[in-house]
Amino acid sequence: MEKRISELRQEIADALSKAKDTAILSGIHSRYLSKKGEISSLMQGLGKLSKEERPAAGQLINQFRDWAEATLKEKEGALKEAELAARYKKEAIDVTLPGTLRPTGSLHPISLVRAELTQAFMGLGFSVVESPEVELEHYCFTALNVPPGHPSRDRQDTFYMGETDEVLLRPHTSPGQIRTMEKQKPPLKVVVPGRVFRSDDDTSHTPMFHQMEGLVVDKNLNLCDLHGLLDVLAKAMFDEHVHIRFRPSFFPFTEPSVEVDVSCFVCDGKGCGLCKSTGWIEILGAGVVHRKVLAGCGIDPDEYSGLAFGVGLERVAMLKYGIGNIQILYDNDLRMLGQFHS
Ligand code: PHE
Repeated sequence: MEKRISELRQEIADALSKAKDTAILSGIHSRYLSKKGEISSLMQGLGKLSKEERPAAGQLINQFRDWAEATLKEKEGALKEAELAARYKKEAIDVTLPGTLRPTGSLHPISLVRAELTQAFMGLGFSVVESPEVELEHYCFTALNVPPGHPSRDRQDTFYMGETDEVLLRPHTSPGQIRTMEKQKPPLKVVVPGRVFRSDDDTSHTPMFHQMEGLVVDKNLNLCDLHGLLDVLAKAMFDEHVHIRFRPSFFPFTEPSVEVDVSCFVCDGKGCGLCKSTGWIEILGAGVVHRKVLAGCGIDPDEYSGLAFGVGLERVAMLKYGIGNIQILYDNDLRMLGQFHS
């Protein structure tokens, strides 16, 4: 009996010294101290001893069991403490470290230009309106006095939806003029910013780009009013020192029509690479709304006159920020986009 107890004592001591976590301790407990464990079988062995031997042996077993329980508890305490210390160490948070910052985005150059321009026009009392991107032929061409067979209707330039020429992706924001005049009575002042679509793709054209249409309808408007309005626009777009000039042009929906140049904001008119040594940069098309267009929308051209312009936002952004290739605006490269903060 004594020999067996000392063997077991050695076994328990060895097992405990190797135990690395509390899960192992419960294995040791069930092997030695549970009902079916080694110490219980020692107890059962008492029955085989003589009456005289039994009390002393029983006492030995009891002492051994007390020792085993106490040692296990002690080891359990030590392991729990160590486990807790390890967990604290692992989960420790250094509250003095800076947090993980998510980078904030910035507005795309096209959004910046659109916001600047709409702000400037809202300051002049214009409303900002939307017009459909998928548009009827009538609004894109016929109501704008674009005759049948005009090159801008050509299937090669324009994205028609389906086989007929009835529905298309608008190639300019000018349908916004017609839709506005159908809904609102003059006097009116609106700008219509939005996407437009043309089958073009090179360093200065993309199949989708942005324009902003402007329309004013009131009594006694003339080319001088248009000049004054576009001068404000040019100053808002580039710099308050620039001025504009008109060159005669042609659009079916304006008469007279003009091409508008802005004085070069890089060389101040002296001549440089940007203005190709002319001192002027072409920025938009404009004109006095054609009488036929007004009449088609139920507005009496003898009583009212209109001014209209259409400006390409990519072109303005490229000029303003010195971007040489339009594709860069659509690459979504953060090294480029990150440079624009409003
Ligand atoms: N819609 C014309 C274009 O896309 C621009 C324009 C608008 C010209 C309004 C005159 C008046 O080229």
